[in-house]
Amino acid sequence: MASSDRLRPGEKGKIDVSVDIRGRLGKITKTITVYTNDPVKPATTLSVRMNIKDRAHLDRYAAGEIFGDKCRGCHVDQGKGKAGWDLFKADCFMCHNAGTNTSLTGMSKKPREYLRKAIREGVDNTVMPGWEETNGGPLDEGDIESLVDLISR
Ligand code: HEC
Ligand code: HEC
Repeated sequence: MASSDRLRPGEKGKIDVSVDIRGRLGKITKTITVYTNDPVKPATTLSVRMNIKDRAHLDRYAAGEIFGDKCRGCHVDQGKGKAGWDLFKADCFMCHNAGTNTSLTGMSKKPREYLRKAIREGVDNTVMPGWEETNGGPLDEGDIESLVDLISR
């Protein structure tokens, strides 16, 4: 958003720029193209450089906190209306992707009832929250069943 659509030669203006940094980390650049009636240089490109240090994860968190307002944009909202693999990719993969936590393949060796309970209620003393609505989570029984089907396929 620009402070004015008309600037006289030499006059200064302000442009507000917002950048969606969800899921981004490290150095990124956003470019803004400004079109003017300057006959010599009608378009000017400005760039804003930033280094995202992932402020959301500077502290240690208790499991259920990822369902809160500050966190759901990345941890919950992208999985809305999804099921199975699409839901897993949106809500689960960030923690269960070949890192220190159990992978999809590792989970697939566990019995369905064990998986269902872990997903519904969470895992004590870890950052794995209980995902079922009755435990304050965003998923209903059907969503959870679609995940159990995916994992134990
Ligand atoms: C900008 C998007 C984004 C936001 C906002 C966000 N997260 Fe995350 N979170 C991620 C991603 C991506 C991962 C997986 C990679 C990583 O560990 O950074 C992750 C991983 C995690 C993990 C597991 C890894 C670890 O650090 O132990 C926890 C716990 C977590 N987030 C909690 C939260 C909480 C609590 C909030 C809100 C205060 C939050 N996140 C907000 C994107 C986000
Ligand atoms: C904030 C990170 C995080 C997110 C998001 C997350 N988990 Fe977990 N999950 C963990 C941690 C940590 C554990 C306990 C350590 C382990 O088993 O790897 C765990 C454990 C589990 C277990 C038990 C695994 C076992 O073999 O004992 C299952 C099943 C599971 N998670 C499924 C899911 C599903 C499905 C989702 C998405 C709805 C999900 N997790 C989202 C962190 C997370």
